[in-house]
Amino acid sequence: MRRKHVIFFVVVMFLTWNMLMYVTLVTKSPNALQHHHGDVKVKLNDLQEQIVLQIQENEKILHDLRKLRSETEQKQKQPSNEVVSQAVPKIVKPNNTGGLENKLSYNKVKADNVILPILMIACNRADAIQRSLDLVLKYRPDAKRFPIIVSQDCGHEETANMIQKYVTEHDVIHIKQPDLGKVNVPWPQRKFEGYYKISRHYKFALNQVFHTYNHSAVIIVEDDLDISPDFFEYFAATFRVLMSDNSLWCVSAWNDNGKRGMVKNDPELLHRTDFFPGLGWMMERNMWLELGPKWPDAFWDDWMRHPDQRKDRSCIRPEISRTSTFGKKGVSKGLFFEKHLKFIQLNEKYVAFTQKDLSYLIKENYDPAFHKFIYDLPEVSLKEVATDNTKHLSEVRVTYRTKPDFKAIAKHLGIMDDFKAGVERTAYRGVVSITFKDQRVHVAPPVEWKKYDLTWT
Ligand code: UD1
Ligand code: MN
Repeated sequence: MRRKHVIFFVVVMFLTWNMLMYVTLVTKSPNALQHHHGDVKVKLNDLQEQIVLQIQENEKILHDLRKLRSETEQKQKQPSNEVVSQAVPKIVKPNNTGGLENKLSYNKVKADNVILPILMIACNRADAIQRSLDLVLKYRPDAKRFPIIVSQDCGHEETANMIQKYVTEHDVIHIKQPDLGKVNVPWPQRKFEGYYKISRHYKFALNQVFHTYNHSAVIIVEDDLDISPDFFEYFAATFRVLMSDNSLWCVSAWNDNGKRGMVKNDPELLHRTDFFPGLGWMMERNMWLELGPKWPDAFWDDWMRHPDQRKDRSCIRPEISRTSTFGKKGVSKGLFFEKHLKFIQLNEKYVAFTQKDLSYLIKENYDPAFHKFIYDLPEVSLKEVATDNTKHLSEVRVTYRTKPDFKAIAKHLGIMDDFKAGVERTAYRGVVSITFKDQRVHVAPPVEWKKYDLTWT
């Protein structure tokens, strides 16, 4: 019994000793402290994560609420005499590549009754919006066919008041981008915040045009664009082409190389281009159904030029621009304006495009004729063009094989020398055509050209 007692006592002492040692040596060791510290850190991190998630969640709910509220307000504000297009004619159907299928042939398309709204993108330039709206109202042939929707971002009061004047005195519709909050742009991109806001605004405005107002197509202009007298006639006529050609995804009013002196003096001349020009452009509803859901956070125009979006589709563009920009002070600052944009020639002569047969612009008609025309031209060197040695030829072809080749030729002839996703501005099948000292010069790749080289950027 006594022996058992002693053993029990020793065991208890041993265990107690061990526990004491554990407490003093293990839990109080620096390691353990760190461990403890680490625990707190993990817990704090968890907490922080949860709070951030909660904030994001709240922001999303707030955003949805704001959207809902603005949509309800817009619907209430909608004047009763407002022109909303009839249901979309069941002519176009998206196929699985995102392109358009089952378009009608040019001769069968009756586009005269389709309503083509003008969407004007505005922000904080009251004088600009006034100038643009005055010109649009001046040249608009038919208020019912071409309703005007001004979408305003930036919440600028003076600009809002200016637009309101046109709501009262004319039949302009004024919608406001509800989300005026700062864009969460990561630091290195912060200087591009303007481009994020523009993209966000475009998404809102185009959703309004197609989902609230239910239009079949849209002509988009920005608040710093002047338009030509035949702007509406141009879009009305080319809409028929757009509707009947699967390989077209836009019509633009802009010639990127359309500087005074660099264009052919032929207001009727139209082209196809693989480069998305923007700056006064038209697209169909189906295009927005394709692009809207994946619309980018910023740099929407360059995003459009990426093969994932363009999918080898082309636009119609004029030889002489039907828009010109006076936006010296814009998001992209004035440098590009002073160096380039301000020299673009705006067409002044009215062309009755709707009276003309434009079916030559449809791919199956255009491509064979274009190819033959370009590669039947006499081939000359840049040097010969530059030194006037070929002046007896009214049209010539200059070949480029590499990117530096093209850059050198472009620099010399005053052509825009940048590439977007491998495509030169205004290029069609790699060919850029301009007027140089009264001679038509077609800068072209070799005849065996198959596709653009994406690495040329
Ligand atoms: C340039 C392009 C423009 C394109 C934009 C985005 C030219 C001449 N212009 O804009 O076509 O859309 O890059 O890539 O190449 N705006 C807003 N919210 C803002 C700021 C501006 O909606 O916070 C509107 C303006 O009212 C205007 C448009 O966005 O209608 C373009 O803005 P602007 O300031 O003119 O920028 P650019 O440098 O010309
Ligand atoms: Mn601008």
